[in-house]
Amino acid sequence: MQVSVMTTAAAEADEAVAAVTADREAADPPPRHVAIIMDGNGRWAASRGLPRVAGHRAGAQAVRRIVESAIRHGVGWITLYAFSSENWRRPAGEIIDLTGLLRHYLRSEVAELKREGVRLRFIGDRDRFDADIVADLTDAEHATEGNSRLNLTLALSYGARAEIVAAARAAARAARLGNLDPEAIDETVFGGLLSTSAMPDPDLIIRTSGEQRLSNFLLWQAAYAELLFLDVLWPDFGPAHFAEAIAEYARRERRFGARPA
Ligand code: FPP
Repeated sequence: MQVSVMTTAAAEADEAVAAVTADREAADPPPRHVAIIMDGNGRWAASRGLPRVAGHRAGAQAVRRIVESAIRHGVGWITLYAFSSENWRRPAGEIIDLTGLLRHYLRSEVAELKREGVRLRFIGDRDRFDADIVADLTDAEHATEGNSRLNLTLALSYGARAEIVAAARAAARAARLGNLDPEAIDETVFGGLLSTSAMPDPDLIIRTSGEQRLSNFLLWQAAYAELLFLDVLWPDFGPAHFAEAIAEYARRERRFGARPA
């Protein structure tokens, strides 16, 4: 009996929070695209005397929570830096742990993400992963391509400079073949050659763990993004942090280089 009373009270509290959130967001629409540098898994594990892989596992749980938060806040696009091109330099054991976790994530989460209306995309040099993972990535993209409630992109073996170089190479090749007039290359044309061509630029980039740098993440796309560096370690990042990040974004004045009115 008591449980049902508490459940009702909790549901009412949730509704009240949702109503306040909806009111606030009617005035300040949420960022369309939030990109996150998920940092601090290793420190989270070390602070508990656990192996690094435990931090990465807890980090994967945080990913699940943030997908739910994004849907609740009406954020349409989330991009997560899950594995950088530089991460291949980590010890072999940690790479095995991270790729194993990715394999597990893809096999255990895609069906649920599909049910939730999430469309999955992957950017980065996927061919560096084992063939079974590459196949799982392609399958996940195909399985969810009809969804549009939330666009979730995982950056895997991703590096922004390599992405920009690849786009420059594609433009040069097209020009050499006579398919592209070099004078016609502008920001829109060049942006269309990037792996993010189907995505809006990020409005908000969050980095957890207190580090304050972009680490080769979405360098072109970040041109006018609001940057938010938080002192929380990624595995501890939850719905309250996400809500606060959205509120902080609403307080920022975005001018895109123009003078204040
Ligand atoms: C940075 O923490 C995090 C990573 C290199 C990997 C991010 C991976 C996950 C969040 C889990 C896997 C996600 C999916 C979607 C399967 P760090 O290890 O550099 O932490 P540290 O700076 O404290 O050492």
